[in-house]
Amino acid sequence: MSPLLTLHHLRKSFGERQLFDIDLLNIAAGTAYVLTGLNGAGKSTLLRVLGGLESAEAEAAAFAGEAVRFSPYPQAMRESVIYVHQHPVMFSTSVAANIAYGLVARGVPRQRIDALVDDAMAWAGVAHLRDSRTQTLSGGEKQRIALARAKVLQPRLLLLDEPTSNLDGAAREQVLALIPSLTASGASVIMACHDRDLIALRGVHRLKLSGGRIQVRAQRSRVA
Ligand SMILES: Nc1ncnc2c1ncn2[C@@H]1O[C@H](COP(=O)(O)OP(=O)(O)OP(=O)(O)O)[C@@H](O)[C@H]1O
Ligand SMILES: [Mg+2]
Repeated sequence: MSPLLTLHHLRKSFGERQLFDIDLLNIAAGTAYVLTGLNGAGKSTLLRVLGGLESAEAEAAAFAGEAVRFSPYPQAMRESVIYVHQHPVMFSTSVAANIAYGLVARGVPRQRIDALVDDAMAWAGVAHLRDSRTQTLSGGEKQRIALARAKVLQPRLLLLDEPTSNLDGAAREQVLALIPSLTASGASVIMACHDRDLIALRGVHRLKLSGGRIQVRAQRSRVA
């Protein structure tokens, strides 16, 4: 698989405290990763750094085959990397308007937006919620809508912060079932989660953040 993102010597500190110092982070195209680690290990911060929401230093970086300067965060990544918050924030309009939001901001023509939003809602299994207000949605519905809102922008890298941590049973399975189709369409996915919630999807690679370093773990082969 070709590399999508390579970062050498990625360092993040808050004041005097160094949170991580990662020798090498290699993310392949069209590949899913789970990022585990204890509470406070820095999983969310690392995802926010990769998504350009938090600054960090890297010695060398390459994205989609081009060498880039990582700081300030490169424009090429801003257009193609999306961070999905653990508790997605929704505007208090309809579900469809929430999913359309990023496309409207990009100036995509209205007719094209409608078609893309319809496709994304069908993909996430939320077409029946099209005109619902977002205040009444369940946690699982919100997560799937947040994934649809991200997917519609055709990212090359999706950063999901504990997408299933507040879900159980069918809601959790519905969210997890969307991941393989993201990687099949060429996107890479990094999901933060806890060891106890470890997602056992086929072919998902494991990264563990511990003591400010990344350990690459063996792949899981079991299907969820
Ligand atoms: N803006 C900030 N300023 C100072 N310290 C911060 C800031 N953001 C995070 N931290 C600290 O960095 C550490 C890592 O936090 P982070 O949220 O990345 O951990 P996490 O691995 O996602 O934890 P959890 O499993 O609880 O979600 C924590 O000790 C946190 O207090
Ligand atoms: Mg976190």
